[in-house]
Amino acid sequence: MSRFSRGVDRLLEASVVASFSRIGIACRSRVDHWTPPVIPPETEVLLTGATSGIGRAAALELARRGAVVIGVGRSPSRARDLELELRRHHPRSQGRVIVSDVSNLDDVASLVAQLDSEPAPTVLLHNAGAITPELTHTAQGVEITFAAQVVGPHLLTTLLARRWSEERPGRVVAMTSGGLYTRPFDLSALLEPPTPYSGVATYARVKRAQLVWVEALHDLKGLTSAAVHPGWTATAGLRESLPRFSTVMTPLLRSASQGAADLVWLSGCPDIVETPGALWLDRRVRPTHRLSRTRTDAERDRSVLLTYLHQTISPYLADD
Ligand SMILES: NC(=O)c1ccc[n+]([C@@H]2O[C@H](COP(=O)([O-])OP(=O)(O)OC[C@H]3O[C@@H](n4cnc5c(N)ncnc54)[C@H](OP(=O)(O)O)[C@@H]3O)[C@@H](O)[C@H]2O)c1
Repeated sequence: MSRFSRGVDRLLEASVVASFSRIGIACRSRVDHWTPPVIPPETEVLLTGATSGIGRAAALELARRGAVVIGVGRSPSRARDLELELRRHHPRSQGRVIVSDVSNLDDVASLVAQLDSEPAPTVLLHNAGAITPELTHTAQGVEITFAAQVVGPHLLTTLLARRWSEERPGRVVAMTSGGLYTRPFDLSALLEPPTPYSGVATYARVKRAQLVWVEALHDLKGLTSAAVHPGWTATAGLRESLPRFSTVMTPLLRSASQGAADLVWLSGCPDIVETPGALWLDRRVRPTHRLSRTRTDAERDRSVLLTYLHQTISPYLADD
């Protein structure tokens, strides 16, 4: 990394808008001379949120690069469309898509049961996520944003990790968002969101908790973890959840492929092992806090969150 590219990166970071917009990826990919992502042949990748936006672009790109993609999405029709597209364009990649709601722990357990007959995927990409405007609880009584992006992913990771080892290590990458920079970790606000309910504030708290979780995971043997920011990306999810922002920013938004670029790259990149638990954007590790008010006792947060998660998923861990 040259002094020039570091300077460009610092300028982009300072401007915020340029960094997260398509300007960020355009400049950084040129000044850093990005090489194409390398995915070891036939890597098995389990990708949630594969049926739309960033996840869909990542699924197709991973398949193009030779990965065996197992996509996950809630909508049966979108799942079927993606599966057809994977088979049409990348017939050798054996891609398939499973309908499952990762916010529902019963669904997650049955998703993993469907993977029982094959070698376990070693790359697990937790990309599913959305802002939910009304306070909604899952069948297990967990607020749905937290359930879809932390509790369900924890169960999915825990069940798959049983099939990973130091010889066959797993890699977990979670899709984060800039919202996390606005909130400290606060488990009680996740369990009982303050009134009046705000979907945007809940989403931001959940993305902070998701990062705490990613940091906690990297201590586990046989797996490495990372969080990745996609940049501001033109997707149905962004249009639906933040319509005004999406309209104003349209000319500057990244394409879905650009939003998926780091997710694809991190699926094979060796650097993730050297900096476990880090947050990435445009192929560089980024700070996890930008405001002093979001800083809390990181070790305590990890322990509090893991204790809660372990208790919540324990009914699904038959052998524990
Ligand atoms: N777009 C951006 O600018 C931006 C910025 C920062 C972070 N992100 C993050 O990027 C990720 C992808 O978002 P996107 O913009 O690509 O949105 P999107 O187009 O709405 O795609 C979201 C995907 O997540 C799936 N999904 C949502 N909840 C799920 C659940 N409970 N179980 C299973 N699948 C679920 C959806 O499945 P169905 O199709 O079946 O509904 C869909 O495939 C999210 O984690 C989001 O927070 C996006």
